[in-house]
Amino acid sequence: MGEPRLSFDLDKLPRGGPRASRLDRCLQTDRQEFLDRDDVPYRIKGSVIRSLDRMGERWRLHEKFAELALEQVAGTPSPKILELGSGHGGLSRKLLQLHPRAEVVITDVEPESVARIRDSDLGSHPRATVKIEDATAIDAPDGTYDLVVFAQSFHHLPPRLASKVIGEGTRVAKKFLIIDLLRPPSLVLLAGLPMFLPIAAITQGLPTAHDGFISMLRAYSPAAFRALAKAADPDIKLWTRTDGLQQVVVASKLV
Ligand SMILES: C[S@@+](CC[C@H](N)C(=O)[O-])C[C@H]1O[C@@H](n2cnc3c(N)ncnc32)[C@H](O)[C@@H]1O
Repeated sequence: MGEPRLSFDLDKLPRGGPRASRLDRCLQTDRQEFLDRDDVPYRIKGSVIRSLDRMGERWRLHEKFAELALEQVAGTPSPKILELGSGHGGLSRKLLQLHPRAEVVITDVEPESVARIRDSDLGSHPRATVKIEDATAIDAPDGTYDLVVFAQSFHHLPPRLASKVIGEGTRVAKKFLIIDLLRPPSLVLLAGLPMFLPIAAITQGLPTAHDGFISMLRAYSPAAFRALAKAADPDIKLWTRTDGLQQVVVASKLV
């Protein structure tokens, strides 16, 4: 199938969607997070990943994300779930704890993070497989999984790759769940940004504050998600909702 005809330039799609305001377009960046840079030692990336894991534990995000994922497979007795961009494995660990028959494939594109997950309790868990996987080119036949989940990672990808991930997630699974930072209204973003960096730097350390700051500017809006899905395949159906500070997106080709 050729690429669908689009009324916007996918490579230049604003994070706020095709009709984003001028202010919203100013409140985005192409700057990379430490986590995405090849020239940054894993020592720094690892500190961001550990902070995310700590925050996930402290604020019960791992549990909340696992519950959101399990909602999507509520009717499936032994669901097969793929986690992309797992980072530390916290969400998958919760999935395995909360569902006694779930089989979970825990992945990330970063080899060092995958090695650390494999060295943890998850490496020997009877219902877990740990491996390297690139969300933009998933190494699995169509329909392999009941669910793919990608948490707090989607904003890392520029539009063309982000669209590819939606195509891949909906190809290999019945449902693709994306949980990511909410893109706040421009004025809220504008007012909040000056406070965010110092507060995050004091509470989470500079590398995590740096990446968190950039993440807010790179978060996609619901309109952007719809445009990215359309670019991947017009047959993909997509639902978005807000849950606290998170945006919850479910995409599927089957319904
Ligand atoms: C901000 S961390 C999120 C970690 C974890 N999911 C969480 O919620 O705390 C983003 C993760 O996405 C991963 N990532 C970035 N690009 C990716 C890609 N193309 N495929 C798979 N993982 C990717 C990074 O290596 C990193 O572990």
